[in-house]
Amino acid sequence: MPTGPLLTYRYLYLSRLAEGLDFATFQPIAVRARARNPAIGISGVLLFDGERFCQLLEGGAVEVRALAQLIQADRRHVELTVLHEAMEPAARLREDWKSGYCESEDLDRFEGPNGLRGPTALSAFAQIAARADLLQ
Ligand SMILES: Cc1cc2nc3c(=O)[nH]c(=O)nc-3n(C[C@H](O)[C@H](O)[C@H](O)COP(=O)(O)O)c2cc1C
Repeated sequence: MPTGPLLTYRYLYLSRLAEGLDFATFQPIAVRARARNPAIGISGVLLFDGERFCQLLEGGAVEVRALAQLIQADRRHVELTVLHEAMEPAARLREDWKSGYCESEDLDRFEGPNGLRGPTALSAFAQIAARADLLQ
């Protein structure tokens, strides 16, 4: 049977932990994501370096956009910068969902107006995620 074209909606962003919050903020977010994302067919990775988040969501356009809106409105982080957002004729980078910790130096390359954006940001993120300390 012929299958349809392979399409993946990708949303990759960088954000900063809100002032007054600490390291302990991460765990309940990771627990929430682990419970919900697979249930709505979203895969990807959420990384935390202690003060910044960097997250890739992959899945259907409707599901990813809806979750991205929820996340954008979450007051536990600020200064959300979208690094890459596109519907792509490609398989997902990851089939599963993970979260975990990375080094601060890892995320520096996405900072500021000269930071990586677009497909370059996506491939840099894939490399960081491959060596990050992923929990579940
Ligand atoms: C950095 C960050 C990443 C998040 N990632 C996810 C996620 O991948 N999946 C998810 O369901 N919620 C995630 N959240 C939580 C959502 O913003 C929101 O609080 C949650 O989905 C609310 O769901 P509920 O009201 O049904 O509990 C994240 C929050 C932050 C601050």
